[in-house]
Amino acid sequence: RPAPPCTFVVFGGGGDLTKRLLVPAIYNLACAGLLDDGFSIVAVDWAELSSDILRAQFHDALQEFVARRGTSATVLRDDIWQWLHTRVTYLRGSFEEAETYDWLAQRVGGGNAVFYLAVAARFFGPIVDNLGTSGLTEEADGAYRRVIVEKPFGHDLKSARELNTRLLGTLRERQIYRIDHYLGKETVQNIMALRFSNGFFEPLWNRQNIDHVQITAAETVGVEKRGRFYEGTGALRDMVPNHLMQLLAMTAMEAPVSFDADAVRDEKSKVLKAIHSLMPEDVVRGQYTAGALAGAPVRGYRDEPDVAPESRTETYVAMKLNIDNWRWAGVPFYLRTGKRLAVRKTEIAIHFRHAPYALFRDTPVERLTPNIMIMHIQPTEGVTMQFGAKIPGPTVRLGGVRMKFDYSEWFSEGPSTGYETLIYDCMTGDATLFQRADNIEAGWRAVQPVLDWCDRPEEAPLCSYAAGSAGPVEADALLARDGRHWLGLT
Ligand code: BG6
Repeated sequence: RPAPPCTFVVFGGGGDLTKRLLVPAIYNLACAGLLDDGFSIVAVDWAELSSDILRAQFHDALQEFVARRGTSATVLRDDIWQWLHTRVTYLRGSFEEAETYDWLAQRVGGGNAVFYLAVAARFFGPIVDNLGTSGLTEEADGAYRRVIVEKPFGHDLKSARELNTRLLGTLRERQIYRIDHYLGKETVQNIMALRFSNGFFEPLWNRQNIDHVQITAAETVGVEKRGRFYEGTGALRDMVPNHLMQLLAMTAMEAPVSFDADAVRDEKSKVLKAIHSLMPEDVVRGQYTAGALAGAPVRGYRDEPDVAPESRTETYVAMKLNIDNWRWAGVPFYLRTGKRLAVRKTEIAIHFRHAPYALFRDTPVERLTPNIMIMHIQPTEGVTMQFGAKIPGPTVRLGGVRMKFDYSEWFSEGPSTGYETLIYDCMTGDATLFQRADNIEAGWRAVQPVLDWCDRPEEAPLCSYAAGSAGPVEADALLARDGRHWLGLT
């Protein structure tokens, strides 16, 4: 069903995110018939543009997007483009001047509106204050007013709390949609479907049967043109309190009583709050040095543009977390994420315990094939189960085998940007896939001890790893100490 009519206002509408992701996602929604005729886009930005120029830019971006097969069509659908382009307006204006908001108030009138903050984080507070002062956040006669906030939501626990307080000074919690684009990924949403729509996973999903969990978000890209931003951020802030904590919460939370937004978010917060306070020996920070990827030489982080030659910013982080509750006590969750690693791969691997004793004379229990269930998030999307089987032949010999469910083989749905569901959900008022204030704060709380050590460099050593490798050897030692090892990054 199409979402109700709405003016979709994008602050930062001339920027990269809008062209690369938001407009393609809106195009896909239009193709799927999920937008009402009363839908329109207002892009607000500083740049010297006009509506016509912006439309032309959107057209180019969409053509590129379709060529990348971001949609089920192979060419840009003209009927959809005709429908969409007349609905795009550009407003050149400052995010901090009343004039911008007066214009918007006139344009939006009494209708529904989504305000998407695709801007640098320092503007989140001022924009919401201004929306409030101009009356744009008031919901009258059944119309809704919602604000989507991009990341980074805060810089640490204190600033995240302050930002929440500031936004909640103007908006009600139910009007705030804090985005984590990982929650828009089909395979991340599938974690809940897998766990809670099947009978055979959940009975095993606990400390009696699970030995440990590995969550990996490995990237091959470096910091690209984002050196300045990344220098003040680092891998920990960039990926852990948000994306990795969401993956952890989806994997470890209790079954919610319903799929109601608050029921799901209550469970996520509970499990994030149960993360045991981190100790320095459970964290490894690394930074890439020069190396090679796909046969081509790659420079080290300190040689990237806008990066200090003595930079101590981490581009890799690995950590061991313990969750203090009845389901997970004693089951470590190992997390790792980094740039310029050997492969691009995001996955969650559930390592089950061995069979209780070795029935097979020649195969000691520790040599049995580990039972692992891997939820592949990207680039491949699916689930693999690894287990032992008898190798055909007259003698009993065991070998490891894999059973694989591949999304692309089973479902013919066109690929997506990951923003379609999130935008549609916001327009229809479903906040399940967005982070509530307490979710965000719980993610920051979990990593805050590490941020505190980083302020005292002697307590937060920085290891190095060659670009194109699997990460610092110290990260291997983190698991080896527990008699475990990471799944290979190949
Ligand atoms: C973003 C980070 O939030 O997520 C980037 O700022 C990172 O540094 C990106 O590259 C990873 O997202 P994805 O969807 O490519 O895994």
